Amino acid sequence: MVILTSQERKVLDFLQKTEGSFEIKEIAQKTGLPNPAASRAVLGLIEKELAQEIKTEILKLSEKGKKYSENKLPEQQMLSELKAFPAGIAFAEYKAKTKLDPAEFNIALGYLKQKGVIQIGDKILLLRKDIDYVPTQKYLNNLLEGKQPEDKESEKILIRRNILMRATTTKVYLTEKGRKIKPEEIKESSAFNLNAPVSFVYPGRRHPHSEVAALVRKIFLEMGFQEMEGPLVETTFWCMDSMFIPQDHPARDVQDTYFVGKKGALPDKDLVKKVKAVQEYGGDTGSTGYQMPWREDIASELILRTHTTATTFRTLYFNKLKDVDKCKYFYIGRVFRNEAIDATHLCEFTQVEGFIMADGLTLSDLKGFIKEFYAKLGITKIKFKPVYNPYTEPSLQAYYYDRKLKKWYALINSGIFRPEALAPYGIKKPIIAWGMGFNRLVALLTKASDIRDTLGPFCDIEWLRNRKLIVGGIDNTNQIKNIGGQSHGNA
Ligand code: PHE
Repeated sequence: MVILTSQERKVLDFLQKTEGSFEIKEIAQKTGLPNPAASRAVLGLIEKELAQEIKTEILKLSEKGKKYSENKLPEQQMLSELKAFPAGIAFAEYKAKTKLDPAEFNIALGYLKQKGVIQIGDKILLLRKDIDYVPTQKYLNNLLEGKQPEDKESEKILIRRNILMRATTTKVYLTEKGRKIKPEEIKESSAFNLNAPVSFVYPGRRHPHSEVAALVRKIFLEMGFQEMEGPLVETTFWCMDSMFIPQDHPARDVQDTYFVGKKGALPDKDLVKKVKAVQEYGGDTGSTGYQMPWREDIASELILRTHTTATTFRTLYFNKLKDVDKCKYFYIGRVFRNEAIDATHLCEFTQVEGFIMADGLTLSDLKGFIKEFYAKLGITKIKFKPVYNPYTEPSLQAYYYDRKLKKWYALINSGIFRPEALAPYGIKKPIIAWGMGFNRLVALLTKASDIRDTLGPFCDIEWLRNRKLIVGGIDNTNQIKNIGGQSHGNA
């Protein structure tokens, strides 16, 4: 006695009656079952050894190929056209007459020449007037009649031209046992089979970039930071001049920066005057400045911002931080640089900017902050190296050691803002500040080795669907688990 669900029974009855082999979608159609139900019923029958599947490779027409199933292939069209000129026709004259478009014309010409059907001289001559069909067309006609043609050469040509595609079909047929089983040997049961495989459903899920952004935001908020915000399109005033980057700095070059080609408005005249003074001769900071004339027209150029430090300087000014005793700000924002794209560089990426202002802050506080922040993400092996930024002194770059790849990676660029950078805003207190690379962090946390795998056209949809949640941190500590309550995958 075999126990079947009513759906398995339906499919069995259908296959016994028709004695053929069918694809799941045909079975669904013929039995009136929805596709997933038919597929489950077939799996049930296979489990009970009543049915079997055979997979076969077939060739079918691509979308482009379907077009040619109505019209003829270009080489066939050319053959028919040339038949009207049994004595040949001048090349230029024929080119003007043909209904083929230039791309098809070249394909057809090449094919007919290679097959020896035509000879190209001053004139195109038909050599073999006896043929009605070119081999590729014969192949296509056979295929359309439901045959699988033998002509391997035409097959190769049509696949290369993207007219044919390989596909596998799976057909279901009954086993000996399935064919012979009698109604009295079957018992129908409506019990659920909890072990039956079902098709996957992918509900919406957070993109890894939003998942990591939520995590980073949570860490900053828990550390008492406020979030700031700024525009993607900036004047170079906010992106460069406001923070003591000189007007002849290489970052202002079109090789590095995307210019919008329009000018934007400069802020309050008083601030512009102060920035000009600091840039030209140091203002009243005691610095000599850059000792060259500072120009408003250069500062008004609109660009796609190259770093989120532009937003930090807007915040210093618009939030009137000169009147504030102490504060901590962070920002996760998109930036743009005119760079060649590779495994570690994109021309559009994300930075995590931040700063702390308070009396008595030193380089040790900056190093302490960096270590504490990354420890929360499970990154514990860090080293520091001095670097140069026009607006910070001293400046630090921190590197993270990747145990798997056995390599040091730059994580963060940082420093203490120079007096010249802060003077126009009337800020006297020390500010420690940084810009972190966000994309690399996403790659580390999702265990992707190439940042292009996590975003954009190279990012695999299957990976997005099936990737693991970000838990456990990079060095396999449990830090993230404790703070990452928000970062569950399914929305
Ligand atoms: N703007 C720097 C960068 O893009 C980062 C940075 C911000 C450095 C603030 C120091 C202070 O690399």
